[in-house]
Amino acid sequence: MKGIILAGGSGTRLYPVTQGISKQLMPIYDKPMIFYPLSTLIQAGITEILIITTPEDSQNFTRLLGDGAHLGISLSYAVQDQPLGLAHAFIIGADFVGDDSVALVLGDNIFHGITFDELDDVDGGLVFAYEVSDPQRYGVVEFDASGHALSIEEKPTHPLSSYAVVGLYFYDNTVLDIAQNISPSQRGELEITAINEEYLRRGKLQVRKLSPGNVWLDTGTFDSMSEAAAYVEVLQKRTGQVIGSPEVAAFEHGLISAAQLSQLAQPYMKSGYGVLLEKVAAGDKD
Ligand code: TTP
Repeated sequence: MKGIILAGGSGTRLYPVTQGISKQLMPIYDKPMIFYPLSTLIQAGITEILIITTPEDSQNFTRLLGDGAHLGISLSYAVQDQPLGLAHAFIIGADFVGDDSVALVLGDNIFHGITFDELDDVDGGLVFAYEVSDPQRYGVVEFDASGHALSIEEKPTHPLSSYAVVGLYFYDNTVLDIAQNISPSQRGELEITAINEEYLRRGKLQVRKLSPGNVWLDTGTFDSMSEAAAYVEVLQKRTGQVIGSPEVAAFEHGLISAAQLSQLAQPYMKSGYGVLLEKVAAGDKD
């Protein structure tokens, strides 16, 4: 399975900050935002990843993450000239995906405490729903009494449930065809909800509810960014464990050795991030 991180967009809810820099390069506490979705894909066992950025910031992402060799993965990059919507990722990334299945993660989404396994041979689409207080900001899933998804509606004024579709989607290869055949929405975007609706129509969409104990944060506004930073800070300080580290995810998946992890930690010792990595490399679980 291939992975795509969608890290373009316009970030208008963070203006004027994002007039000068992409949202996904900004910090969530002690690391750039994109580290979080990148670790999520590595935790899901994905090692071939395409990062889609704005043309303006493409070089900054490359400077930050390189070709991924230091993490034992392969990173490639593509630009999205205009923010044409989330489903546009499957048009830009079609050659990269080839005949494979694909996971798409949004570059401003943080997941913690969720294990994504047995996903390699996904048949159809698999998405996750999370109960939120403000469903009208998201794609909203309506379930029947037995927990099967009945409908998905993008940013509804009157949501039919409080379950939002989170920004991590797993699809079989037919997503490439589906993406070619959807039309832009009224706001002019190729919507991921249109893809999910098509899978649902074909009876091929699984929607799994995440438990409240799992954590999903999106970081597209000033408030949600600072709340996410506070969450990471409190948990890291309290537990001494690191959240959203691609280096640690790579180590835990056997992609790099403890010695390599320790080496990666060295440039980060002054910032404190390296101390957390060193601790993992030393096998210190307390
Ligand atoms: P959004 O938060 O929906 O959009 P945005 O980042 O442009 O922000 P705003 O609403 O404040 O203007 O995007 C979710 C993620 O997907 C985010 O990481 C940006 C990315 N994205 C793209 O890469 N290309 C796109 O065309 C869109 C719409 C989003």
